[in-house]
Amino acid sequence: MADLIFKGIHKRYGAGLDVIRDVNLTIKQSEFCVFVGPSGCGKSTLLRMVAGLEDISSGELLLGDVRMNEKPPTERGVAMVFQSYALYPHMTVYDNMAFGLKILKTSTDTVDKKVREAARILQLEPLLKRLPKELSGGQRQRVAIGRAIVRQPQIFLFDEPLSNLDAALRVQTRLEIAKLHTDIGTSSMIYVTHDQVEAMTLADKIVLLNAGHAVTEDGSIAQIGTPLELYHHPVNRFVAGFIGSPAMNFLPARVHEIGAHGVTLVLPDGTQLTAEVAGNDLLRGAPASFGIRPEHLSINDAGQLKGRVRHVEHMGELSYLYVDLPGLAVPLVVKQAGTFSGQAGGPIRLAAPAANAHLFDANGRARRRLPSAALG
Ligand SMILES: Nc1ncnc2c1ncn2[C@@H]1O[C@H](COP(=O)(O)OP(=O)(O)O)[C@@H](O)[C@H]1O
Ligand SMILES: [Mg+2]
Repeated sequence: MADLIFKGIHKRYGAGLDVIRDVNLTIKQSEFCVFVGPSGCGKSTLLRMVAGLEDISSGELLLGDVRMNEKPPTERGVAMVFQSYALYPHMTVYDNMAFGLKILKTSTDTVDKKVREAARILQLEPLLKRLPKELSGGQRQRVAIGRAIVRQPQIFLFDEPLSNLDAALRVQTRLEIAKLHTDIGTSSMIYVTHDQVEAMTLADKIVLLNAGHAVTEDGSIAQIGTPLELYHHPVNRFVAGFIGSPAMNFLPARVHEIGAHGVTLVLPDGTQLTAEVAGNDLLRGAPASFGIRPEHLSINDAGQLKGRVRHVEHMGELSYLYVDLPGLAVPLVVKQAGTFSGQAGGPIRLAAPAANAHLFDANGRARRRLPSAALG
């Protein structure tokens, strides 16, 4: 067992499509690492390079101190679970899990032991004699995971394994995958998803990939960190907007005042808002955007923001308010605990606490948050 190390990994398809650029990353042994990002950003490509299903155009992939680039998939100690479970329809659950071991000429006793152990972990024991068509989608995906477990890989690779399941099963299978990681403590997991909720709930470490491959001066990775590091300290607007649901609100503004306790911005209508961020080398009058998450805005008669409620969504335990501010095309989203009793169309005042605010410069880079800033 060892760390998996990416050194300047690059993938170019054909003559000029640079899909993955300069990926540098270490995934520690037994770590749960999630590759997340919008559709088409290259997550599957990066995973397939680890699996050996896709050539690495340049850079080096190391498992411990062993170079993996040229190793065939079967010698990499990885097992992959795909979005489509691709079970053999005419084989029982047992045989589907045993098949990969049998073709490796593993002894019948060993195959039996490993299949029963995987079935136990995944609670598939009562289903071993069934055919795939007699299983629910969630059970089929568990069999596909079972096929990976019996191979006892050093690294599990998951490519959007929950995408074909309905909402309730997605949550249940997500919990099972988290438990699997706890139970099989020594294996690392790399898990690809476009869903930031899966990334937040499963990952020890999130690798957020940039959208698209048009920007060539930047590498593919937007930010690496724990879920809470990305939530509290996004390095740029893209990360801030991707992590968190509903997404962070961004208000276009200009720098008004820079002090020891933060930076005050002024909105086009003259409203002043402060963010507890470092102001060094910002210039007065420079364009910037003020970032505040829906959960950090609150209804408050003394709040700085004066707007009008455009629309309310009632979720029961909470309400989402869409609030129009003067001169702003996109409504501000407010997450409010409980049932909102006011009227759509009515005026509203909102407080945007400086301790919860983020500030992004004209290039979208985040200002460092001060030690006083809230992590709640
Ligand atoms: N075999 C291929 N040949 C050319 N382009 C490809 C190939 N596979 C994927 N791509 C392109 O690479 C980009 C990243 O694809 P992919 O890794 O599947 O993204 P993701 O998994 O993040 O949705 C996409 O623009 C896709 O069209
Ligand atoms: Mg994909």
